[in-house]
Amino acid sequence: KGLKYDNCNFEVKEYGVGLVTINRPKALNALCDALYQDLHDIITKMDKDEKIGAIVLTGSDRAFAAGADIKEMSDKIYPATYSTDMLAWWENIAKVRTPTIAAVNGFALGGGCELAMMCDIILAGDKAQFGQPEIKLGTIPGMGGSQRFTRAVGKARAMEMILTGDFMKADEACTRGLVSRVVPSEELVDDALKTAKKIAGMSRPIALLAKEAVNAAFETTLDTGLRFERRLFHSTFATQDQKEGMSAFSEKRTPAWKHK
Ligand code: HXC
Repeated sequence: KGLKYDNCNFEVKEYGVGLVTINRPKALNALCDALYQDLHDIITKMDKDEKIGAIVLTGSDRAFAAGADIKEMSDKIYPATYSTDMLAWWENIAKVRTPTIAAVNGFALGGGCELAMMCDIILAGDKAQFGQPEIKLGTIPGMGGSQRFTRAVGKARAMEMILTGDFMKADEACTRGLVSRVVPSEELVDDALKTAKKIAGMSRPIALLAKEAVNAAFETTLDTGLRFERRLFHSTFATQDQKEGMSAFSEKRTPAWKHK
């Protein structure tokens, strides 16, 4: 609180939602190193805050983020990219345990699309455009695009997009499962906050368990994943909130979660 960041704004809503707005308009929110530091600092602090049950990440009307910062990156040489494991740190954003929603208006390209895909849910404004155009710069996705985009939309379309650099509009992204819903762009952030509020209104540990269970689907075989899910399901019975949730149902009242 009280901290100022050059490339991001943030606020914490009284209903337990963190809102982070990428704010580097002169470069269409290109993800320079300083911007990563701001984002990481804000998001990891929010993640540790027990009062925050969901985080919304958004950009501007024109761009969620137009990619990694091309100007910052262009002169880098191979030994340095390798020895610093360039871009690896972005995975920290995907490791956040609090549920995250990317609210995407405008361009989500390259690292911007990859950043959106690190979030748990993507909501798109009707004018949003997604793409992995790195090939047009003589490089390839480096923050997860070849993996997460392929899992989201399937091999044929991912290959076509990554090999041509073409963009995908919001409606198609929705049909193919990359985004969860498309909403009018002017309503996007409010809609994302409303969705986040709903999540933040659940028991926090249970929401974290649910997120962990879904994420396991990307990492394991079906049999292992099903067992992992059951073990987490069993563990919910060790919480007061499972007792509270089920009692509240029987008593026809709203649950009052003990561990939010
Ligand atoms: C640095 C960027 C930028 C970027 C835009 N800008 N994208 N600067 N890195 N990724 C800057 C422009 O240079 C320009 O600054 C200002 O933002 C406005 O952009 P314009 O191009 O003038 O706007 P417009 O004509 O509306 O075109 C929008 C656009 C285009 C289609 C999004 O900017 C564009 O194609 N950007 C690059 C998209 C991209 O290739 N992303 C992938 C990056 S590589 P000035 O100072 O000139 O006004 C990547 C790699 C990921 O993400 C990891 C693997 C390495």
